[in-house]
Order: sequence, then C-alpha cells, then structure tokens
Amino acid sequence: MKITVDLDLELREAVALYEREQVFVLTDENVRQNCLSIVQQTLSLPENNILVIAAGDENKNLDTLSWIWTQLSNRHATRHSLLINLGGGMVTDIGGFAASTFKRGIHFVNIPTTLLACVDAAVGGKCAINFNGLKNEIGLIKLPDEIIVYPPFFATLSEQQFLSGYAEMLKHGLISSDIDTNILLSFNLDEFFANISKPIITDEIGNESVNPFLENFIHMLSRSIEIKQYIVDQDIEESSLRKSLNFGHTVGHALETLSLHKGQALPHGYAVMYGMIAELYLSVAKLNFPTQKLQRVITFMIENYGKPSCQCKEYELLYDLMLHDKKNLNSSEVNFTLLADVGRPRVNQIASKNEIFEALDFLLNL
Ligand code: GLY
Repeated sequence: MKITVDLDLELREAVALYEREQVFVLTDENVRQNCLSIVQQTLSLPENNILVIAAGDENKNLDTLSWIWTQLSNRHATRHSLLINLGGGMVTDIGGFAASTFKRGIHFVNIPTTLLACVDAAVGGKCAINFNGLKNEIGLIKLPDEIIVYPPFFATLSEQQFLSGYAEMLKHGLISSDIDTNILLSFNLDEFFANISKPIITDEIGNESVNPFLENFIHMLSRSIEIKQYIVDQDIEESSLRKSLNFGHTVGHALETLSLHKGQALPHGYAVMYGMIAELYLSVAKLNFPTQKLQRVITFMIENYGKPSCQCKEYELLYDLMLHDKKNLNSSEVNFTLLADVGRPRVNQIASKNEIFEALDFLLNL
C-alpha cells in the first residue's frame, strides 16, 4: 500500500511490469470527471482502455459485471493485462471481482478516490456485487496487487463524504488503542475542511510542499490503513479477529438499510457512527466498557454527525434487519462485535431483543 502526493511516480512504478501488456482503467461517471485526467497525465491510455460504468451502489450488479467482462474480452485483454480500479468502494468492489474472475484472474490495482474506500473497501480484498436484492451477496476475497492512495483526491469530496470515511477511521481507533482514538477525537475537522482545497502549497520561490494540515491527516490515514491491514493479514477469511472490523456495523447496517427503504439514504459512515454508539452502550452494559469514554465519542458524534432520526415503531423492523445480517451465526440471535474497553474488541457477542431495544432507545434519545 502506498500513500503518496506523487501519483505520477507511484503509477509509473505500478504499471512498469506491464509495459508490453494492456492496461485498463475502470472508473465511474463521476470519478471520470473529477480524477481520471490526473491518472491519464501519466498513463495516456487510449480511450478504448477506459471502462466507465454508471455511478451508485445500485449499479454494483450482475449486468455491470457482465459488461466489464465483455469489454475486457472484446478489447482483447489477456491473462497478463492489468486492471486499475479508480473510484470509490463501488468501483473497487466490482472491479476487483471482475479482475479476479476474468480468465481465472488478472492483476489489479486499486486507486480509491474516497476516504471511505481508502480505509475500508479498497483494503482487505473483499470484492462483491449485490444480487437478488441483497448487498454484497456474491463475491470473493482477493487482495489487489497494489493500493495507491492519493490524498489530494479528497479535495473532490463533500464534507459529508469525508465524514463518512472518518467514521471508519474512528472505528479502527476504537478497536485498536486509546492513543489512536484520542488523536482521532481531537483532530480539528473544521480546520482540515478549510485547507483541503489546497493540498499542495507553493512558497514565494515556487517550491511545492504538502499542506501541513493534510500532512498531519496523512499520518492518521496511514495508521488507520495499517490497523486494517494488520487485522486482515492475521485473519483474511474473517474466522475471528477480522470480525472486530464489524464493530458498529450490526446496528449501522440496519439503520442504513432502513434509511434506504424510507428513501432518505443515510451515508454508510454516518450509519456506522450511530451504530458504534448503540454498540458501545451494549458494551457498557455487557462488558463494562468505561462510560466516560462512551461519553467522549457521543460528544464527537453530536458535534460532527448530528443525531440519528428514527422512531420507536421502527425498532421491530431494525431488529428484523439485524436478525438477517449475514454476520450472524444462526438466524435466531443477533451477533455483535463489542468492546471491553478501547482496543479490546470481543467478537461473537449475543444481545437479546430487549437489550437491543434499550440500546436503540439510548441512541435515539441522546
Ligand atoms: N469491511 C470490513 C472488512 O473488510 O472486513
């Protein structure tokens, strides 16, 4: 994994092995507008080698996957070709799947363009499409040949998109250590937002350097990816330790799915942020997680993410969604990753319906 402000150098290195092979870029309509030209300054690929799919998770489906396979085949990709997935999690998920299955697997590189994809989807090898109305129903785990993170792309993100990724960074902090968590909770996000539009600054004599606000953030980002990478390296198949990455996601996924049903899509990271609060409440109740630490996370949530909106009459529906979570070990119990303390995740924790309703009450009455 490379985090760089010199994308040209890293890209040249990544494609050097493929000098005599075809290189393809997969991207979506939005990313094509905002980021493709930067990549093309180095690659100068023919139009034919740029595969553009429609943006949005609803397009992460079999039709789009089939279209990618068809394009690779019609454009004479071989087993030695390289696919570069340039985009958010939707592109890295479906691109990784297409590359891992085309001619039994070709090489692929992920260049995530959203913070969320940098810290989550692009790292760890989970590739999937949605199928039969279910998210990530068909997929596989295959690590990319390289991941290149270019933080200046974050200048193209809205604050909401940025915060969505930041919640996953906070999750990595909470499952990892007090030090990481404290750094994330005290980072000045307003100052960062005010500076991100100028990732590179030029002094009076024309020397370019990375904006110090971005530099500080790059250290935090690098640490966050390192935490995820470490966990994936220990347990790529998610038999135990990798489940700690699901912290906040049992309640979070239910809130996210409910918001989709109501036509008011909640960004993934916001759902995870709210889910972490509910699951920290369960952690206090069941594992004695320190309440003052929960309070600090709540304050951070309210300042930056606001409060979730949901009604008591929706608890049954949320519970039903949790029962159908694919992380459960059986269909009658809801399985959580909880924390005995910051940095002490406990996987396979069961909570009763009453306990879950109490946690939802706590979250929704903050
Ligand atoms: N998104 C959690 C994982 O990669 O395991």
